[in-house]
Amino acid sequence: MSVSELKRRRTFAVISHPDAGKTTLTEKLLLFSGAIQIAGTVKGRKSSRFATSDWMDIEKQRGISVASSVMQFEYGDAVMNLLDTPGHEDFSEDTYRVLTAVDAAIMVIDGANGVEAQTLKLLEVCRSRKTPIITFINKLDREVRQPLDLLDEIEQHLGVAAVPFTWPIGMGKEFQGVYDIRHDQVRVFRAGQETLDGAVETLQGLGDADGERRFGPAWLRTREEVELITGASPAFDKEAFLRGDQSPVLFGSAINNFGVKEILDTMVELAPPPSARMTVQRPVDPAEPKFTGVVFKVQANMDLAHRDRVAFIRVCSGRFERGMALKVSRTGKTFRANNVVAFLSQRRETISEAYPGDIIGIPNHGTLSLGDTLTEGEDLQFIGLPFFAPEIFQTIEVVDPMRAKQLGEALRQFGDEGAIQVFRPVLGGSLVLGAVGQLQFEVVKHRLAAEYKVEVRISPARYRMSRWVTCDDPAELRRFSDSYAARMALDAADAPTYLATHGSEIEVAQKLWPKIVFNELRERS
Ligand code: G4P
Repeated sequence: MSVSELKRRRTFAVISHPDAGKTTLTEKLLLFSGAIQIAGTVKGRKSSRFATSDWMDIEKQRGISVASSVMQFEYGDAVMNLLDTPGHEDFSEDTYRVLTAVDAAIMVIDGANGVEAQTLKLLEVCRSRKTPIITFINKLDREVRQPLDLLDEIEQHLGVAAVPFTWPIGMGKEFQGVYDIRHDQVRVFRAGQETLDGAVETLQGLGDADGERRFGPAWLRTREEVELITGASPAFDKEAFLRGDQSPVLFGSAINNFGVKEILDTMVELAPPPSARMTVQRPVDPAEPKFTGVVFKVQANMDLAHRDRVAFIRVCSGRFERGMALKVSRTGKTFRANNVVAFLSQRRETISEAYPGDIIGIPNHGTLSLGDTLTEGEDLQFIGLPFFAPEIFQTIEVVDPMRAKQLGEALRQFGDEGAIQVFRPVLGGSLVLGAVGQLQFEVVKHRLAAEYKVEVRISPARYRMSRWVTCDDPAELRRFSDSYAARMALDAADAPTYLATHGSEIEVAQKLWPKIVFNELRERS
């Protein structure tokens, strides 16, 4: 395995509250690296065109990112793998799983709104995994909150020490640029800077007498604030950043392509290359010669013409070569990976090799499920891919009984993808769908009609909660399942699940059955 290939990989996601500017920034990152030539402007996306990162039809209808996608591009010597995440919180489960496949994240915050609910939730996931975060405070070309207050809010709400790398000079109509604290350099803002050749004007230091004359009071205020923060905030500590305890903060305006280069440079300089990942059996080092990978996402029918299903695999170790024989640990089956795609900006291309940190897509017809580990033969199972207990439950029935088979097939597919959770009551009856967000049901309905020509009736189920039940003693688990047969169901992975109409039911069951564990989270293992 070529260590230099490994070292130059940066695999990351952009996370934000909807409307903070994630799509705009993603596009500018691609534009900046030369991966795409023109930005499909966000306005354009919402009418006729749509961003390179949005694939599904439903996206165009709703203007939200449903499906995550992957983009690989080169920036200088680095190979960047950018994993897009759905912005809408109803698809947060998908986002959580994508975050298991990255080594770092960019958090975009709308400078006018500060830290918002969705940012908090996503950051919690990053924190629990100790994912290093680079913070980008966006929309400085508008009236935003005071930078000092924003930093304070990040520290208070997100629990990470915010270390400013740049500091804004003015805001809104008075936005003049940023002062790069680490390089003692001012970068002057020019609105509408959509092109990349127009080099940014720079000035040395804040002491420049010309700067004071040109930019007036904003310049003086920046000087004062920078003095204040460099005295008050902690010095940047790379180890603390890699542990997720410190976050470098950059200010800018994505739409004006301002501050984007700094994000890429910071990512290359500081974000970690792929590191060791845990399996049930042992840690796997990325520099190991043999290939291993994990399926963190399955998406069906991205290209309706082909009706394919693509498993997204993060390469964890070794070198992937097209045509190699890969073993799926769960089933023990081996297949040849002849048809493999990489995601180069907006194109899907056939590739011949990939390295740790890269994402490859393998089209398949059900061989690969979410959480699967692929190896050259060793029995390994990567851990940490989360499934959350759903919060909303609906029953689903087919309108035309002749289409029942198609419904079953479609739901199995959706379950494997993790698009929705499907529970089959052990005593039979209507299938129960479980979701974290209401929109997931709408997507299911839409996709059933569009992709499978199945019309369904979806109605509220009487359940409010579910728990995956496990027990060290299989006989005890069987006794429990028999006693509660009317409440038991199996999920897509055949994991026994207890369905409750009320939280107190779970408490009572727990008291009566102390050896049974009621799990809110299921990790694929
Ligand atoms: P998202 O993916 O996080 O949901 O955000 P997206 O990029 O779609 O951006 C949301 C809105 O914010 C877009 O406005 C976009 O043009 C705007 N925006 C993004 N970056 C900047 C920036 O640096 N400055 C300013 N002023 N705006 C920015 P929109 O949907 O086109 O229209 P509207 O919401 O303004 O009506």
